[in-house]
Amino acid sequence: MHIARLQFADAPQYRALMLEAYALAPDAFTSSAEDRALEPESFWVKRLSDPAGLSLAFGAFDDQGLVGTVALKFSDKPKTRHKDSVIGMYVGPGARGKGIGSALLGAAIQEAQSRADVLVLTLTVTEGNTSATNLYRAAGFEVFGIQPMAIRTPGGFLSKVHMWRRVSHA
Ligand SMILES: CC(C)(COP(=O)(O)OP(=O)(O)OC[C@H]1O[C@@H](n2cnc3c(N)ncnc32)[C@H](O)[C@@H]1OP(=O)(O)O)[C@@H](O)C(=O)NCCC(=O)NCCS
Repeated sequence: MHIARLQFADAPQYRALMLEAYALAPDAFTSSAEDRALEPESFWVKRLSDPAGLSLAFGAFDDQGLVGTVALKFSDKPKTRHKDSVIGMYVGPGARGKGIGSALLGAAIQEAQSRADVLVLTLTVTEGNTSATNLYRAAGFEVFGIQPMAIRTPGGFLSKVHMWRRVSHA
């Protein structure tokens, strides 16, 4: 298994993995598989290699191909340029519990650390998603709030837990 920054050419694999994510873990994401399936190819390419430099993604590859991913979203506004969001964290069911999620998050944190103007990472996780919450806590994220009724699912409304972490620059 290796972790690499995803490139333009990885967009079809990335799209397939994320559509799997929205379908198999619908409560974990705000977007639905149906909505995302309608997005044009440019949406996925932009997520990986945004011409404006406002997003990028990492992938975990094993001999089957892309099995996990996480993305970073940046702000271009002077007042919020110090904050990045961690989004789209997913590891396929067959690859879980081997440290891939943790390695992906580590790559995202390292990327943030390499950018002098980035001081804070934020993310949201659906309340009750214990494995993701544990992963984020282990990487130094702390809860700073909970948004009630953040997403509507067939089982009812679910809250989103907001987490943050400072980014240190050695
Ligand atoms: C959350 C998610 C990304 C975690 O990915 P993962 O690759 O399983 O994460 P890791 O393997 O790094 O850590 C998961 C667990 O495996 C354990 N683990 C890590 N390396 C291990 C190893 N070598 N051997 C055994 N267990 C290991 C970790 O301690 C952790 O245990 P915990 O959940 O009890 O704390 C994955 O479960 C997932 O994609 N879920 C569905 C989508 C989702 O919830 N995304 C998050 C949206 S906010």
